[in-house]
Amino acid sequence: MSSESVLAVLVSGSGSNLQAIIDASERGDIPARVGVVVSNKADAYGLVRARKHGIPAEVVDHRAFGNREEFDARLVEVIRSYRADLVCLAGFMRVVTPVFLRAFPQRILNIHPALLPSFPGTHGPRQALQYGVRFSGCTVHFLDEGVDTGPVIVQAVVPVYEDDTEDALAGRILKEEHRIYPMAIRLCLEGKLAISGRRVIVRGTDRIPDFSRRNPDC
Ligand code: GRF
Repeated sequence: MSSESVLAVLVSGSGSNLQAIIDASERGDIPARVGVVVSNKADAYGLVRARKHGIPAEVVDHRAFGNREEFDARLVEVIRSYRADLVCLAGFMRVVTPVFLRAFPQRILNIHPALLPSFPGTHGPRQALQYGVRFSGCTVHFLDEGVDTGPVIVQAVVPVYEDDTEDALAGRILKEEHRIYPMAIRLCLEGKLAISGRRVIVRGTDRIPDFSRRNPDC
């Protein structure tokens, strides 16, 4: 893909991952610009972040649609109008339908705050604490029909401490999310990823770059 690649980033809340993507784009770490930010919630702080960077911010309120398919069809329309090459879900709290998936085949990424396939769905950090695992982390994956089930692109590991609270663990995981999401986007836009069954093969490199590097704060 060319250096002109356009990202559509979908958010429902704070948008700290969106910020990491915008920052990576502005630094030239990913060969793309964020062309549009779309939220299903008008009060999502991610929309403010977008506007601060001069990025179009659109609201598509799911409550205005009769069913999920109609909502997804409108999302597709908005994203296409900005000619996005890649769609990045970043804290987008809606389950999408095949209407959305089929519009962007192998072109939708999602980030999840757990080491999938452990702890899918909501409250990944809480589930990890309650289960008692010693390590958790985050996962960037291609979206498929399931909830957090798509082929894994990059993961990062975060330790779980005895005295962790849900917020402390979630914050530590979030720092790693901000590191690996731009990394996965870059690999995807550089055409280095091939999906083979459940596996994502990374071409042109023996190891995913920086794979083992952990944030020193974690
Ligand atoms: C992140 O933990 C992400 O993994 C999950 O929702 C959270 C969104 O955070 N899907 P933010 O809006 O990017 O700050």
